[in-house]
Amino acid sequence: MQWSNSSLLTSQLSEVFKDLIEKTYPELSKDQILASLEITPCRQSSLGHYQCNSALKLSKLLKDNPRSIAEKLSPKASNFIASCDIAGPGFINVTLSNAFLENALNTLIEDPRLGIKPTSNSKRVVVEFSSPNTAKELHVGHLRSTIIGDSLARLFEFLGHDVLRLNHIGNWGTPFGMLIQYLRIHQPEVLSGKEKTNLSHLANWYKESRKLFDNDEEFKKSSQKQVVKLQAHDPDAISAWNKICEISRSGYQEIYDLLDVKITERGESYYHKLLPKVVKLFEEKKLVEVSDGAKCIFLDNFVTKEGSPLPIIIQKTDGGYNYATTDLSALYQRINEEKADRIIYVVDNGQSLHFQMVFRAAKLAGYYKPDKIEVDHVPFGLVLGSDGKKFKTRSGDSEKLIDLLNNAIAKAADILKERESSSSHIDEASKVLGINAVKYADLSSLRTKDYMFSYEKMLQFEGNTAAFLLYAYVRIVSIQKKASFDFASLKSEKIVLSDPTEVELALMVLQLREILEAVAYSLLPNRLCDFLYQLAEKFNSFFRDCPVINSEHQNSRLLLCELVKRTFEIGFSILGLRTVSRM
Ligand code: ARG
Repeated sequence: MQWSNSSLLTSQLSEVFKDLIEKTYPELSKDQILASLEITPCRQSSLGHYQCNSALKLSKLLKDNPRSIAEKLSPKASNFIASCDIAGPGFINVTLSNAFLENALNTLIEDPRLGIKPTSNSKRVVVEFSSPNTAKELHVGHLRSTIIGDSLARLFEFLGHDVLRLNHIGNWGTPFGMLIQYLRIHQPEVLSGKEKTNLSHLANWYKESRKLFDNDEEFKKSSQKQVVKLQAHDPDAISAWNKICEISRSGYQEIYDLLDVKITERGESYYHKLLPKVVKLFEEKKLVEVSDGAKCIFLDNFVTKEGSPLPIIIQKTDGGYNYATTDLSALYQRINEEKADRIIYVVDNGQSLHFQMVFRAAKLAGYYKPDKIEVDHVPFGLVLGSDGKKFKTRSGDSEKLIDLLNNAIAKAADILKERESSSSHIDEASKVLGINAVKYADLSSLRTKDYMFSYEKMLQFEGNTAAFLLYAYVRIVSIQKKASFDFASLKSEKIVLSDPTEVELALMVLQLREILEAVAYSLLPNRLCDFLYQLAEKFNSFFRDCPVINSEHQNSRLLLCELVKRTFEIGFSILGLRTVSRM
């Protein structure tokens, strides 16, 4: 599926090399030429801006050595290309011309989106993320899902797709029977709404109710009755269930507000009515086998550790449905009712097997064709403490998410107080810095790996951190302030690149699109983080080498700073990071 349409630097270069190959080697077919085209950023920026690897790829086909092919394929200097060098076994390194880069930048001066138009090929993208379980606190795994999912949703929105953000809350099933029964006995005022409470209390009562369920036969029986009532949509049971969901919801909302995350709740209960229909669908397709009284789907190549076939159980002997049945129904609904073109599940690594099986079963049942609809599990690793073990607080309990976020904000405040005396900005700045730090630490690490949570590291002002990036951004704001930058009066001026550090910045501004598309394809936000980190470093070199105010290049440099600032802003907003104008 294509996620882009307009022309990137790499595609412009591809055109140049395609023409050259066609002219030099008319004997090659179109497909052979296309297959040989590979343009990547130069591995060493001192050698050029981009490299073309075609000579190496064509060597076997043309029975010639790659360096001699590279010589024939080197483009002449033009308005676009300043120079070109052959390196190593036959890489063609290309340096773009200043005139081209200046011109490209100057066309962006009045464009807040830096030339990245919303796609004309808009797709319906479902991003499912966060998805905690009712009556339980969110844990750090849900935090990762929330941060990564929000960022991917923001990216697709920015690129112009129609995004549906879904919170697949675990809000249905047997645990509600125990909790309702417990609250009826011990907290009737909570159920009636007379007494207000919060998610923390609810989570404790949930634990209590489980203890009772395991140890008290009578309690167990009445809990099971509550489940039956709930499933039969008995008004009393439903009203108790609603109360529980409402208390949980306001607990989650507190966190989403702090994180500035928008998401639509669509929990497991939403698919309740669809479950029998989906089971029937699988039965009609003859994909269901009854094993020990349970309805199962057996899939090739899925086996247990012992080597016996591993089925998806879609209906238990007692008639109850499973987690997988809900997921098969949700997928069905997203394809057939939401008309999704792409569906993304941001859920931890631990559920990979589950999703592989659900997707395989759905394909077998003919829900979707992989070339028409893209369905991806976007897995992520664990959050580890500094001891390398699963992240926990000292008490041994998983730290409450809200405490963790507030801790990050408090630590950010301490750091900011140390750095500057004026306290008027500290409240706001520490909130921004603390939350940014938590988000950025997560997004900048390769999501498929476990990542180590450290307040100390994430709040540093050096290295690949939110504070380092934000600091570069704030530098630009302060240059603009000192220069009384007035965009309206400068926008008709032109950018001229006179210093190598300016050329490097120019190139990065023009590469933003390439990076966003690479992230939309790979679903790896750390690539955008790496890019912004490089941008910050390059901006710092520019700041060191190029005076702005009162230099002969003041206007040009102010405009260049403005484009860099917008590059940061677009990047930050896609990562869900907020900015400050002072630090
Ligand atoms: N509620 C689940 C949990 O906390 C995550 C749900 C993931 N999404 C899904 N469609 N199964 O582990």
